Amino acid sequence: DLKGLDLRAEIDRLRKERNAVILAHYYQKPELQDLADFVGDSLELSRKAAETDADVIAFCGVKFMAEVAKILSPEKTVILPDMAAGCSLEDSCPPEKFKAFREAHPDHIALTYINCSTEVKALSDIIVTSSSAETILQQIPADQKIIFGPDRHLGGYLSRKFNREMLLWPGVCIVHEAFSETELLKLKAQHPGAPIAAHPECPPTIVDHADYVGSTSGILNYAKAMEGDTLIVATEPHIIHQMSRALPDKTFIGAPGADGNCNCNICPYMALNTMEKLYLSLRDLTPRIEIEETLRLGAKKSLDAMLGMAS
Ligand code: 13P
Ligand code: SF4
Repeated sequence: DLKGLDLRAEIDRLRKERNAVILAHYYQKPELQDLADFVGDSLELSRKAAETDADVIAFCGVKFMAEVAKILSPEKTVILPDMAAGCSLEDSCPPEKFKAFREAHPDHIALTYINCSTEVKALSDIIVTSSSAETILQQIPADQKIIFGPDRHLGGYLSRKFNREMLLWPGVCIVHEAFSETELLKLKAQHPGAPIAAHPECPPTIVDHADYVGSTSGILNYAKAMEGDTLIVATEPHIIHQMSRALPDKTFIGAPGADGNCNCNICPYMALNTMEKLYLSLRDLTPRIEIEETLRLGAKKSLDAMLGMAS
């Protein structure tokens, strides 16, 4: 029974005792972002995981992110407060189907979004995140054929921006898919002059209205650099916590879903992590990420390719 426990104090005590670093993604609950040692986008979090000298990495994010931490830092104990924290993009790309798709296109390389399973990473050539995809794509020779998976919206966005044909895997993020163009245009009319910043996981109906398209960190940096006082944010709304912290005098409005508010755009997987579960995972060092070594080395190759090519 955890009633009566000062969870924040217990987490602070355990993180010292265990020599643990707590990493959190911007889509986590505010209380988890506030206690984390580092909050970042997928690329920054993987870099932090690779370079930390902590014994334990407590990952407040989703499972594929914690797996990336384990792939890059295999000697560390990596814990995830709730093992059910998956991702709809990962679910949309079963490894055996991806393998068959690759085999059907042997002259293509697989450029793969980090939001996928370790198995799919091991079947890929280069991993990208939303913040590294553009730089990496530009380094691939123009005549090289590419399979891009699993996010067809990120793939489509890159394809249009760089006028580069790619074979797209048909996966989507259920969170970014839920924004409504009609409601977004209504909101924009109510805030004339307010720019829209969108994550490239959004469909073209949203991205085409955006003044800025980029990763979570990219959107945060855009907010810090913008001159106006209001920004419409088309990504998971928990990132607004960091924006309001950094820029308390500015107004950030989450882009709406079909019901006119941004609650339907909360990531149900990210939301599974709580203070209670983080406390228990630090106390018991479980749930723990374990990856079979051959599989880990396969996935590490494509992740290392990303880390080498990302600026
Ligand atoms: P980034 O933080 O890399 O922009 O990724 C967003 C996301 O959906 C993670 O699941
Ligand atoms: Fe996956 Fe979308 Fe949630 Fe990110 S926001 S973890 S892509 S389901």
